[in-house]
Amino acid sequence: MNIAIIGTGYVGLVSGACFAELGNKVICVDNNEGKIKDLTNGIIPIYEPGLEQLVKRNYRQKRLFFTTSIKEAVMKSKVIFIAVGTPSKDNGDANLRYIEEVSRSIACHMNNYKVVVEKSTVPVETNTWVKYIMKLNNHKVDFDVASNPEFLKEGSAIDDFMHPDRIVLGVESEKAKNLLVKLYEPLKAPIVVTNIQSAEIIKHASNSFLAAKISFINAVANICEQVGADIEKVAEGMGMDTRIGKSFLKAGVGYGGSCFPKDVKAFIRIAEKLGGEFGLLKEVEKINENQRKLIFNKIEKALWILNAKTIGVLGIAFKPNTDDIRSASAIDLIKMLQDEGAHVKAYDPKAMDHARSILPNVEFCKNPYHVAKGADALVIVTEWDEFKKLNLSKIKKLLKHKIIIDGRNIFDPKKMKQMGFRYSSVGRPV
Ligand code: NAD
Ligand code: UGA
Repeated sequence: MNIAIIGTGYVGLVSGACFAELGNKVICVDNNEGKIKDLTNGIIPIYEPGLEQLVKRNYRQKRLFFTTSIKEAVMKSKVIFIAVGTPSKDNGDANLRYIEEVSRSIACHMNNYKVVVEKSTVPVETNTWVKYIMKLNNHKVDFDVASNPEFLKEGSAIDDFMHPDRIVLGVESEKAKNLLVKLYEPLKAPIVVTNIQSAEIIKHASNSFLAAKISFINAVANICEQVGADIEKVAEGMGMDTRIGKSFLKAGVGYGGSCFPKDVKAFIRIAEKLGGEFGLLKEVEKINENQRKLIFNKIEKALWILNAKTIGVLGIAFKPNTDDIRSASAIDLIKMLQDEGAHVKAYDPKAMDHARSILPNVEFCKNPYHVAKGADALVIVTEWDEFKKLNLSKIKKLLKHKIIIDGRNIFDPKKMKQMGFRYSSVGRPV
Protein backbone atom coordinates (compact mmCIF):
# COMPACT_ATOMS: atom_id res chain seq x y z
CA MET A 1 0.00 0.00 0.00
CA ASN A 2 1.21 3.56 -0.63
CA ILE A 3 1.32 5.47 2.63
CA ALA A 4 2.32 8.96 3.72
CA ILE A 5 3.25 9.87 7.28
CA ILE A 6 3.23 13.56 8.07
CA GLY A 7 5.52 14.37 10.99
CA THR A 8 8.73 12.37 11.19
CA GLY A 9 9.33 12.38 14.96
CA TYR A 10 9.40 9.54 17.49
CA VAL A 11 6.03 8.22 16.31
CA GLY A 12 6.18 9.15 12.62
CA LEU A 13 9.65 7.76 11.97
CA VAL A 14 9.08 4.53 13.89
CA SER A 15 5.65 3.94 12.31
CA GLY A 16 6.97 4.81 8.86
CA ALA A 17 9.94 2.46 9.13
CA CYS A 18 7.75 -0.34 10.53
CA PHE A 19 5.08 0.03 7.82
CA ALA A 20 7.89 -0.09 5.23
CA GLU A 21 9.30 -3.21 6.88
CA LEU A 22 5.86 -4.79 6.43
CA GLY A 23 6.21 -4.25 2.67
CA ASN A 24 4.45 -0.93 2.13
CA LYS A 25 5.82 2.07 0.24
CA VAL A 26 6.07 4.85 2.81
CA ILE A 27 6.82 8.53 2.33
CA CYS A 28 7.75 10.31 5.58
CA VAL A 29 7.21 14.06 5.53
CA ASP A 30 8.55 16.72 7.86
CA ASN A 31 8.74 20.50 7.59
CA ASN A 32 12.07 20.43 9.43
CA GLU A 33 14.43 20.54 6.46
CA GLY A 34 17.49 19.64 8.55
CA LYS A 35 15.78 16.47 9.79
CA ILE A 36 14.83 15.33 6.28
CA LYS A 37 18.32 16.15 4.96
CA ASP A 38 19.88 14.09 7.78
CA LEU A 39 17.54 11.16 7.14
CA THR A 40 18.34 11.10 3.43
CA ASN A 41 22.03 11.09 4.42
CA GLY A 42 21.53 8.14 6.77
CA ILE A 43 21.65 10.22 9.96
CA ILE A 44 18.87 9.23 12.38
CA PRO A 45 17.71 12.27 14.38
CA ILE A 46 16.60 10.35 17.50
CA TYR A 47 17.93 7.50 19.56
CA GLU A 48 15.62 4.50 19.61
CA PRO A 49 17.01 0.96 19.85
CA GLY A 50 17.00 -0.81 16.47
CA LEU A 51 15.68 2.21 14.55
CA GLU A 52 18.84 3.07 12.67
CA GLN A 53 19.17 -0.36 11.06
CA LEU A 54 15.43 -0.51 10.28
CA VAL A 55 15.38 2.92 8.63
CA LYS A 56 18.56 2.34 6.65
CA ARG A 57 17.47 -1.09 5.41
CA ASN A 58 14.08 0.12 4.21
CA TYR A 59 15.53 3.29 2.67
CA ARG A 60 18.09 1.21 0.76
CA GLN A 61 15.40 -1.18 -0.42
CA LYS A 62 13.34 1.76 -1.69
CA ARG A 63 10.32 1.20 0.53
CA LEU A 64 10.97 4.24 2.72
CA PHE A 65 11.32 7.80 1.40
CA PHE A 66 11.80 11.20 3.03
CA THR A 67 10.59 14.57 1.81
CA THR A 68 9.61 18.05 2.95
CA SER A 69 6.85 18.14 0.33
CA ILE A 70 3.39 17.31 1.68
CA LYS A 71 2.10 17.75 -1.87
CA GLU A 72 4.29 14.97 -3.26
CA ALA A 73 3.46 12.63 -0.38
CA VAL A 74 -0.30 13.26 -0.54
CA MET A 75 -0.52 12.83 -4.30
CA LYS A 76 1.34 9.52 -4.24
CA SER A 77 -0.46 7.96 -1.24
CA LYS A 78 -3.78 6.28 -0.53
CA VAL A 79 -3.54 6.38 3.29
CA ILE A 80 -2.14 9.48 5.00
CA PHE A 81 -1.21 9.40 8.69
CA ILE A 82 -0.89 12.59 10.71
CA ALA A 83 1.82 12.17 13.36
CA VAL A 84 2.77 15.74 14.25
CA GLY A 85 3.20 16.96 17.83
CA THR A 86 0.28 17.99 20.04
CA PRO A 87 2.09 19.76 22.90
CA SER A 88 0.39 21.40 25.90
CA LYS A 89 -0.70 25.01 25.83
CA ASP A 90 -0.16 27.05 29.02
CA ASN A 91 -3.73 26.23 30.15
CA GLY A 92 -3.21 22.47 29.63
CA ASP A 93 -5.19 22.19 26.39
CA ALA A 94 -3.56 20.25 23.58
CA ASN A 95 -2.18 22.68 21.02
CA LEU A 96 -3.72 21.54 17.74
CA ARG A 97 -2.19 24.14 15.43
CA TYR A 98 0.11 21.59 13.70
CA ILE A 99 -2.83 19.23 13.16
CA GLU A 100 -4.87 22.03 11.62
CA GLU A 101 -1.97 23.16 9.44
CA VAL A 102 -1.38 19.66 8.11
CA SER A 103 -5.11 18.92 7.57
CA ARG A 104 -5.42 22.06 5.43
CA SER A 105 -2.33 21.16 3.49
CA ILE A 106 -3.51 17.60 2.83
CA ALA A 107 -6.88 18.88 1.62
CA CYS A 108 -5.29 21.31 -0.80
CA HIS A 109 -3.19 18.59 -2.45
CA MET A 110 -5.68 15.70 -2.63
CA ASN A 111 -6.02 14.49 -6.21
CA ASN A 112 -8.22 11.42 -5.56
CA TYR A 113 -9.82 9.43 -2.68
CA LYS A 114 -7.67 9.30 0.49
CA VAL A 115 -8.04 8.06 4.04
CA VAL A 116 -6.62 10.64 6.43
CA VAL A 117 -5.70 8.96 9.70
CA GLU A 118 -5.06 10.73 12.98
CA LYS A 119 -2.16 9.00 14.75
CA SER A 120 -1.16 11.93 16.95
CA THR A 121 -2.76 11.93 20.40
CA VAL A 122 -5.64 14.38 20.24
CA PRO A 123 -8.65 15.45 22.31
CA VAL A 124 -11.97 13.85 21.46
CA GLU A 125 -13.70 15.58 18.54
CA THR A 126 -10.43 16.67 16.90
CA ASN A 127 -11.19 14.48 13.92
CA THR A 128 -14.55 16.20 13.47
CA TRP A 129 -12.60 19.42 13.10
CA VAL A 130 -10.05 17.79 10.76
CA LYS A 131 -12.89 16.66 8.50
CA TYR A 132 -14.54 20.09 8.64
CA ILE A 133 -11.34 21.98 7.80
CA MET A 134 -10.51 19.57 4.98
CA LYS A 135 -13.96 19.98 3.42
CA LEU A 136 -13.64 23.75 3.76
CA ASN A 137 -10.41 23.63 1.77
CA ASN A 138 -11.40 21.00 -0.78
CA HIS A 139 -15.04 20.13 -1.43
CA LYS A 140 -14.32 18.33 -4.72
CA VAL A 141 -12.35 15.24 -3.74
CA ASP A 142 -13.87 12.40 -1.72
CA PHE A 143 -12.03 11.37 1.47
CA ASP A 144 -12.49 9.66 4.82
CA VAL A 145 -11.04 10.56 8.19
CA ALA A 146 -10.10 7.93 10.77
CA SER A 147 -8.48 7.73 14.17
CA ASN A 148 -5.69 5.23 14.85
CA PRO A 149 -4.02 6.18 18.14
CA GLU A 150 -0.50 4.92 18.70
CA PHE A 151 0.46 3.07 21.89
CA LEU A 152 4.20 2.55 21.42
CA LYS A 153 6.62 3.38 24.24
CA GLU A 154 9.93 5.09 23.64
CA GLY A 155 12.84 2.75 24.23
CA SER A 156 10.89 -0.27 22.95
CA ALA A 157 9.03 1.50 20.15
CA ILE A 158 9.74 -0.93 17.31
CA ASP A 159 8.78 -3.98 19.29
CA ASP A 160 5.66 -2.23 20.59
CA PHE A 161 4.66 -1.24 17.05
CA MET A 162 5.28 -4.68 15.59
CA HIS A 163 3.68 -6.59 18.50
CA PRO A 164 0.92 -4.36 19.85
CA ASP A 165 -1.54 -5.52 22.52
CA ARG A 166 -4.26 -4.08 20.29
CA ILE A 167 -4.85 -1.82 17.34
CA VAL A 168 -7.59 0.76 17.69
CA LEU A 169 -9.40 1.99 14.59
CA GLY A 170 -11.96 4.76 14.81
CA VAL A 171 -13.73 4.83 11.46
CA GLU A 172 -16.92 6.09 9.86
CA SER A 173 -16.88 4.20 6.55
CA GLU A 174 -16.48 0.58 5.46
CA LYS A 175 -13.99 1.68 2.81
CA ALA A 176 -11.66 3.29 5.37
CA LYS A 177 -12.08 0.36 7.75
CA ASN A 178 -11.19 -2.20 5.08
CA LEU A 179 -8.08 -0.31 4.00
CA LEU A 180 -6.81 0.08 7.56
CA VAL A 181 -7.61 -3.50 8.58
CA LYS A 182 -5.68 -4.71 5.51
CA LEU A 183 -2.75 -2.48 6.36
CA TYR A 184 -2.52 -3.86 9.91
CA GLU A 185 -3.35 -7.49 9.04
CA PRO A 186 0.31 -8.65 8.96
CA LEU A 187 0.70 -7.74 12.65
CA LYS A 188 -1.89 -10.36 13.62
CA ALA A 189 -3.00 -8.25 16.59
CA PRO A 190 -6.52 -7.85 17.98
CA ILE A 191 -8.25 -4.92 16.29
CA VAL A 192 -10.83 -2.79 18.08
CA VAL A 193 -13.03 -1.11 15.52
CA THR A 194 -15.19 1.71 16.83
CA ASN A 195 -16.36 5.20 16.06
CA ILE A 196 -13.87 8.04 15.90
CA GLN A 197 -14.81 9.68 19.21
CA SER A 198 -14.34 6.40 21.09
CA ALA A 199 -10.93 5.81 19.50
CA GLU A 200 -9.81 9.31 20.51
CA ILE A 201 -10.99 8.72 24.08
CA ILE A 202 -9.35 5.27 24.26
CA LYS A 203 -5.96 6.94 23.81
CA HIS A 204 -6.37 9.68 26.42
CA ALA A 205 -8.02 7.28 28.86
CA SER A 206 -5.23 4.68 28.43
CA ASN A 207 -2.40 7.14 29.05
CA SER A 208 -4.25 8.72 31.97
CA PHE A 209 -4.95 5.33 33.51
CA LEU A 210 -1.28 4.32 33.28
CA ALA A 211 -0.23 7.64 34.81
CA ALA A 212 -2.78 7.06 37.60
CA LYS A 213 -1.28 3.64 38.26
CA ILE A 214 2.16 5.22 38.69
CA SER A 215 0.86 7.93 41.02
CA PHE A 216 -1.07 5.34 42.99
CA ILE A 217 2.01 3.24 43.61
CA ASN A 218 4.03 6.36 44.47
CA ALA A 219 1.42 7.37 47.04
CA VAL A 220 1.59 3.86 48.51
CA ALA A 221 5.41 4.06 48.50
CA ASN A 222 5.24 7.14 50.67
CA ILE A 223 3.16 5.25 53.22
CA CYS A 224 5.59 2.31 53.07
CA GLU A 225 8.48 4.60 53.83
CA GLN A 226 6.86 5.88 57.03
CA VAL A 227 6.23 2.44 58.48
CA GLY A 228 9.17 0.30 57.35
CA ALA A 229 7.30 -1.54 54.59
CA ASP A 230 8.93 -2.30 51.23
CA ILE A 231 7.15 -0.92 48.13
CA GLU A 232 8.89 -3.42 45.84
CA LYS A 233 7.29 -6.31 47.75
CA VAL A 234 3.97 -4.47 48.05
CA ALA A 235 3.93 -3.92 44.26
CA GLU A 236 4.87 -7.56 43.67
CA GLY A 237 2.06 -8.73 45.93
CA MET A 238 -0.46 -6.42 44.31
CA GLY A 239 0.66 -7.10 40.75
CA MET A 240 0.18 -10.85 41.03
CA ASP A 241 -3.54 -10.17 41.08
CA THR A 242 -4.29 -10.36 37.36
CA ARG A 243 -7.02 -7.76 37.78
CA ILE A 244 -4.34 -5.29 38.86
CA GLY A 245 -1.38 -6.47 36.75
CA LYS A 246 2.28 -6.04 37.59
CA SER A 247 3.28 -3.44 35.00
CA PHE A 248 3.42 0.28 35.74
CA LEU A 249 3.73 -0.29 39.47
CA LYS A 250 7.31 0.92 39.70
CA ALA A 251 7.59 3.60 42.36
CA GLY A 252 10.16 6.34 41.88
CA VAL A 253 10.75 9.94 41.01
CA GLY A 254 7.47 10.10 39.05
CA TYR A 255 6.45 9.94 35.42
CA GLY A 256 7.86 12.28 32.79
CA GLY A 257 8.11 12.28 29.02
CA SER A 258 6.36 13.93 26.14
CA CYS A 259 3.06 12.15 26.71
CA PHE A 260 1.81 11.31 30.22
CA PRO A 261 2.20 14.86 31.59
CA LYS A 262 0.60 16.50 28.56
CA ASP A 263 -2.10 13.89 28.02
CA VAL A 264 -3.23 13.89 31.66
CA LYS A 265 -3.47 17.70 31.45
CA ALA A 266 -5.40 17.54 28.19
CA PHE A 267 -7.85 14.95 29.55
CA ILE A 268 -8.51 17.13 32.61
CA ARG A 269 -9.21 20.06 30.29
CA ILE A 270 -11.54 17.99 28.08
CA ALA A 271 -13.60 17.09 31.16
CA GLU A 272 -13.66 20.75 32.25
CA LYS A 273 -14.73 21.98 28.83
CA LEU A 274 -17.58 19.48 28.86
CA GLY A 275 -18.73 20.97 32.16
CA GLY A 276 -17.30 18.32 34.48
CA GLU A 277 -14.24 17.90 36.63
CA PHE A 278 -11.69 15.05 36.60
CA GLY A 279 -10.55 15.43 40.20
CA LEU A 280 -8.91 12.00 40.21
CA LEU A 281 -6.50 13.06 37.47
CA LYS A 282 -5.75 16.33 39.23
CA GLU A 283 -4.62 14.28 42.20
CA VAL A 284 -2.54 12.06 39.89
CA GLU A 285 -0.71 15.17 38.69
CA LYS A 286 -0.26 16.48 42.23
CA ILE A 287 1.25 13.23 43.48
CA ASN A 288 3.57 13.13 40.47
CA GLU A 289 4.86 16.67 41.03
CA ASN A 290 5.36 15.87 44.69
CA GLN A 291 7.58 12.84 43.91
CA ARG A 292 10.27 15.13 42.49
CA LYS A 293 10.06 17.31 45.59
CA LEU A 294 10.40 14.23 47.79
CA ILE A 295 13.67 13.29 46.09
CA PHE A 296 14.84 16.87 46.50
CA ASN A 297 13.90 16.73 50.21
CA LYS A 298 15.95 13.55 50.62
CA ILE A 299 18.99 15.35 49.21
CA GLU A 300 18.40 18.25 51.61
CA LYS A 301 17.93 15.82 54.48
CA ALA A 302 21.31 14.27 53.70
CA LEU A 303 23.25 17.51 53.24
CA TRP A 304 21.19 20.23 54.98
CA ILE A 305 22.22 23.40 53.09
CA LEU A 306 22.71 22.83 49.36
CA ASN A 307 24.35 26.13 48.52
CA ALA A 308 27.86 25.52 47.12
CA LYS A 309 27.43 21.74 47.38
CA THR A 310 28.14 19.55 44.35
CA ILE A 311 25.39 17.13 43.41
CA GLY A 312 25.97 14.40 40.84
CA VAL A 313 22.95 13.42 38.74
CA LEU A 314 22.85 10.12 36.86
CA GLY A 315 20.27 10.07 34.09
CA ILE A 316 18.53 12.94 32.33
CA ALA A 317 16.28 11.14 29.80
CA PHE A 318 12.72 10.66 31.08
CA LYS A 319 13.27 6.89 30.94
CA PRO A 320 16.06 4.54 29.84
CA ASN A 321 16.82 3.68 26.19
CA THR A 322 15.78 7.04 24.80
CA ASP A 323 17.41 10.42 24.29
CA ASP A 324 14.07 12.18 24.93
CA ILE A 325 14.18 14.73 27.74
CA ARG A 326 10.74 16.29 27.30
CA SER A 327 9.23 16.81 30.81
CA ALA A 328 11.98 14.64 32.28
CA SER A 329 12.04 14.50 36.09
CA ALA A 330 15.79 15.23 36.01
CA ILE A 331 15.22 18.68 34.55
CA ASP A 332 12.89 19.77 37.37
CA LEU A 333 15.15 18.26 39.98
CA ILE A 334 18.29 19.91 38.57
CA LYS A 335 16.53 23.29 38.50
CA MET A 336 15.46 22.86 42.14
CA LEU A 337 19.06 22.06 43.10
CA GLN A 338 20.44 25.01 41.15
CA ASP A 339 17.87 27.36 42.72
CA GLU A 340 19.39 26.43 46.09
CA GLY A 341 22.86 27.31 44.81
CA ALA A 342 24.13 23.75 44.25
CA HIS A 343 26.57 22.92 41.48
CA VAL A 344 25.22 20.06 39.35
CA LYS A 345 27.32 17.53 37.48
CA ALA A 346 25.42 15.10 35.26
CA TYR A 347 25.73 12.19 32.88
CA ASP A 348 23.30 10.37 30.60
CA PRO A 349 24.29 7.73 28.03
CA LYS A 350 22.17 9.23 25.22
CA ALA A 351 20.42 12.44 26.27
CA MET A 352 23.27 14.86 26.92
CA ASP A 353 23.23 16.52 23.49
CA HIS A 354 19.58 17.45 23.97
CA ALA A 355 20.14 18.46 27.60
CA ARG A 356 23.03 20.86 26.99
CA SER A 357 20.87 23.56 25.42
CA ILE A 358 18.22 23.61 28.14
CA LEU A 359 20.53 23.07 31.12
CA PRO A 360 23.38 25.48 30.34
CA ASN A 361 24.79 25.63 33.88
CA VAL A 362 25.22 21.89 34.36
CA GLU A 363 28.67 20.32 34.16
CA PHE A 364 28.17 17.40 31.76
CA CYS A 365 30.54 14.50 32.39
CA LYS A 366 31.89 11.74 30.20
CA ASN A 367 30.85 8.89 32.51
CA PRO A 368 29.22 8.18 35.91
CA TYR A 369 32.60 8.02 37.69
CA HIS A 370 33.46 11.51 36.51
CA VAL A 371 30.11 12.64 37.96
CA ALA A 372 30.84 11.00 41.31
CA LYS A 373 34.33 12.47 41.63
CA GLY A 374 34.25 14.99 44.47
CA ALA A 375 30.43 15.14 44.59
CA ASP A 376 28.75 15.62 47.96
CA ALA A 377 25.96 13.25 46.92
CA LEU A 378 24.93 11.17 43.94
CA VAL A 379 21.31 11.05 42.72
CA ILE A 380 19.94 8.41 40.35
CA VAL A 381 17.10 9.73 38.21
CA THR A 382 16.96 7.33 35.22
CA GLU A 383 17.39 3.57 35.57
CA TRP A 384 19.79 2.96 32.66
CA ASP A 385 21.33 -0.54 32.73
CA GLU A 386 24.74 1.13 32.77
CA PHE A 387 23.98 2.53 36.23
CA LYS A 388 22.79 -0.82 37.57
CA LYS A 389 26.22 -2.25 36.71
CA LEU A 390 28.27 0.53 38.34
CA ASN A 391 31.44 -0.38 40.21
CA LEU A 392 30.14 0.82 43.57
CA SER A 393 33.48 0.44 45.35
CA LYS A 394 34.96 2.85 42.85
CA ILE A 395 31.99 5.22 43.26
CA LYS A 396 32.47 5.10 47.03
CA LYS A 397 36.10 6.14 46.73
CA LEU A 398 35.28 8.97 44.34
CA LEU A 399 32.41 10.58 46.28
CA LYS A 400 33.20 13.25 48.86
CA HIS A 401 30.46 11.86 51.13
CA LYS A 402 29.13 8.34 50.65
CA ILE A 403 25.59 9.53 49.96
CA ILE A 404 23.40 8.03 47.23
CA ILE A 405 19.77 9.01 46.68
CA ASP A 406 18.17 6.51 44.34
CA GLY A 407 15.04 7.81 42.62
CA ARG A 408 14.54 4.51 40.77
CA ASN A 409 15.24 1.84 43.40
CA ILE A 410 17.99 0.18 41.35
CA PHE A 411 20.16 -0.99 44.27
CA ASP A 412 19.55 -3.26 47.25
CA PRO A 413 19.32 -1.08 50.40
CA LYS A 414 20.88 -3.77 52.63
CA LYS A 415 23.91 -4.20 50.39
CA MET A 416 24.35 -0.45 50.08
CA LYS A 417 24.30 -0.12 53.86
CA GLN A 418 26.83 -2.95 54.23
CA MET A 419 29.08 -1.16 51.74
CA GLY A 420 28.98 1.92 53.95
CA PHE A 421 26.76 4.13 51.86
CA ARG A 422 24.19 6.44 53.32
CA TYR A 423 21.59 5.22 50.83
CA SER A 424 18.01 6.25 50.47
CA SER A 425 15.48 5.19 47.84
CA VAL A 426 11.71 5.36 47.34
CA GLY A 427 9.31 3.50 49.61
CA ARG A 428 11.81 1.02 51.05
CA PRO A 429 13.21 0.59 54.54
CA VAL A 430 16.63 2.26 54.90
P1 NAD B 1 7.84 14.75 17.71
O1 NAD B 1 7.90 16.16 18.19
O2 NAD B 1 8.99 13.85 17.93
O3 NAD B 1 7.55 14.74 16.15
C1 NAD B 1 6.63 15.56 15.50
C2 NAD B 1 7.19 15.94 14.13
O4 NAD B 1 6.20 16.64 13.40
C3 NAD B 1 8.40 16.87 14.22
O5 NAD B 1 9.50 16.30 13.53
C4 NAD B 1 7.93 18.17 13.54
O6 NAD B 1 8.96 18.83 12.83
C5 NAD B 1 6.85 17.62 12.60
N1 NAD B 1 5.90 18.65 12.14
C6 NAD B 1 5.27 19.61 12.87
N2 NAD B 1 4.48 20.35 12.06
C7 NAD B 1 4.61 19.83 10.81
C8 NAD B 1 4.05 20.17 9.55
N3 NAD B 1 3.21 21.20 9.40
N4 NAD B 1 4.42 19.46 8.47
C9 NAD B 1 5.28 18.42 8.58
N5 NAD B 1 5.84 18.05 9.76
C10 NAD B 1 5.51 18.75 10.85
O7 NAD B 1 6.53 14.13 18.36
P2 NAD B 1 6.22 12.61 18.69
O8 NAD B 1 6.82 12.26 20.00
O9 NAD B 1 6.51 11.77 17.52
O10 NAD B 1 4.65 12.68 18.92
C11 NAD B 1 3.76 12.89 17.86
C12 NAD B 1 2.35 12.62 18.35
O11 NAD B 1 2.21 11.25 18.69
C13 NAD B 1 1.93 13.38 19.60
O12 NAD B 1 0.58 13.70 19.52
C14 NAD B 1 2.17 12.39 20.72
O13 NAD B 1 1.35 12.63 21.83
C15 NAD B 1 1.79 11.10 20.04
N6 NAD B 1 2.44 9.91 20.60
C16 NAD B 1 3.76 9.94 20.93
C17 NAD B 1 4.40 8.78 21.41
C18 NAD B 1 5.85 8.80 21.81
O14 NAD B 1 6.30 7.82 22.39
N7 NAD B 1 6.60 9.84 21.57
C19 NAD B 1 3.66 7.60 21.50
C20 NAD B 1 2.32 7.59 21.13
C21 NAD B 1 1.73 8.76 20.67
C1 UGA C 1 3.74 6.12 27.26
C2 UGA C 1 2.80 4.90 27.16
O1 UGA C 1 3.35 3.82 27.92
C3 UGA C 1 2.60 4.48 25.71
O2 UGA C 1 1.66 3.42 25.63
C4 UGA C 1 2.09 5.66 24.90
O3 UGA C 1 1.97 5.33 23.54
C5 UGA C 1 3.05 6.82 25.06
O4 UGA C 1 3.20 7.15 26.47
C6 UGA C 1 2.55 8.05 24.39
O5 UGA C 1 1.37 8.23 24.24
O6 UGA C 1 3.42 8.80 24.01
P1 UGA C 1 6.36 6.50 27.13
O7 UGA C 1 6.02 7.84 27.68
O8 UGA C 1 7.22 6.42 25.93
O9 UGA C 1 5.01 5.70 26.77
O10 UGA C 1 7.09 5.62 28.24
P2 UGA C 1 6.57 4.82 29.54
O11 UGA C 1 7.31 3.57 29.62
O12 UGA C 1 5.11 4.75 29.60
O13 UGA C 1 7.08 5.75 30.74
C7 UGA C 1 6.51 7.03 30.98
C8 UGA C 1 7.04 7.57 32.30
O14 UGA C 1 6.51 6.83 33.40
C9 UGA C 1 8.57 7.46 32.44
O15 UGA C 1 9.05 8.64 33.05
C10 UGA C 1 8.77 6.28 33.36
O16 UGA C 1 9.95 6.37 34.11
C11 UGA C 1 7.54 6.40 34.25
N1 UGA C 1 7.15 5.11 34.85
C12 UGA C 1 6.69 4.09 34.07
C13 UGA C 1 7.22 4.95 36.24
O17 UGA C 1 7.63 5.88 36.97
N2 UGA C 1 6.81 3.76 36.79
C14 UGA C 1 6.35 2.74 36.03
O18 UGA C 1 5.99 1.69 36.60
C15 UGA C 1 6.29 2.91 34.64
